Amino acid sequence: MSTLVTGIGELVTNDPSRDDGPLGVIAGAALVVEHGHVVWTGPAKEAPDADTRIDVGGRAVVPGFVDSHAHLVFAGDRSAEFEARMSGAAYDGGGISSTVAATRAASDETLRLRLRTLVAEMRSQGTTTVEIKSGYGLTVEEEARALRLAAEVTAETTFLGAHVVPTEYAGRPDEFVALVTGPMLAACAPHARWIDVFCEPASPHAFDGDRARTVLEAGRAAGLGLRVHANQLSAGPGVRLAVELGAASADHCTHLSDADVDALSGGSTVATLLPGVEFSTRSPYPDARRLLAAGVTVAVATDCNPGSCFTSSMAFCLALAVREMRMTTAEALWSATAGGAAALRRTDVGHLGVGAQAHLAVVDAPSYRHLAYRPGVPIVRALDVPGHA
Ligand code: NIG
Ligand code: FE
Repeated sequence: MSTLVTGIGELVTNDPSRDDGPLGVIAGAALVVEHGHVVWTGPAKEAPDADTRIDVGGRAVVPGFVDSHAHLVFAGDRSAEFEARMSGAAYDGGGISSTVAATRAASDETLRLRLRTLVAEMRSQGTTTVEIKSGYGLTVEEEARALRLAAEVTAETTFLGAHVVPTEYAGRPDEFVALVTGPMLAACAPHARWIDVFCEPASPHAFDGDRARTVLEAGRAAGLGLRVHANQLSAGPGVRLAVELGAASADHCTHLSDADVDALSGGSTVATLLPGVEFSTRSPYPDARRLLAAGVTVAVATDCNPGSCFTSSMAFCLALAVREMRMTTAEALWSATAGGAAALRRTDVGHLGVGAQAHLAVVDAPSYRHLAYRPGVPIVRALDVPGHA
């Protein structure tokens, strides 16, 4: 069964052979889907026949967003913490323990409903791939439960047992790291593709470089890929550790030294920027231009979570990337699609070249530029291509 998607005012393929830039834009385009994959793209007037057709009426079509960093398995509410921050309180990760308590007390059904609601909210805003972390259970059973639930909705599951040291291990971080790298990892690895750690010596709740290394090396030995919450609150060892260990992604990158940028530019680790966090914690934004000038691969993601940033909107983060981090709209869209795919080491999503999964997002506008030009307006959504789910 094949479907022709036509009437595309502007098609962003992220196929660099298509035009002068990395977005591979085709004006007046069409695209053919077969068995859930893109089999043809080009000018609409050259499109081959197909069994069925969808006309998008001159709208722009872009690859579905790849949100490569999110924490969606949780219960509870931290709007009061956000309110306090807007009046001057600082974010240090201490609020995570309140989400841990609420999550442990919640039933599977409560967690599943919240999780599925957020994933649907994301899809309705153009996100077609999402990475989901554990990290609000912090016991063997609770972390495994979070990952089992996450695996119901995504293949990109991340074990974040080393999110913070839970209150019952206060003052005993090494004992908690032994739990994380021992029985917790053994219970969680079957449900996870990745392992992550909140490496942040500036937070009294998170993990220093040595403990983060222990966690990541144990995860790697268990067959997991590596990701790191790095340099969010201060310039620390996280980014260089990520590069040294060959992590797929160093996330946040808010405080970077020259050595961090050098390391990223010489390695294969993607720098994942999460500007919604700086917005929601009233913090300085990462220096995206410095990373791009150094040739670093940059992803943009939401970090959707109840504490540091509770947005599910990739378009909002894209607009922040343009307005606050001075990325061009083309750079920001690439980072929110192909960049996210690179951060997840995926070649089948984040672009609409031949062979890609048919993960399309349609923009209610003639050009992708409206994604940044119309901040806060819900103009982008995932496009259902019937018969190709
Ligand atoms: O990516 N920094 C660590 N973890 C999350 C926040 C989690 C929370 O505050 O609940 C982050 O910002
Ligand atoms: Fe995060």
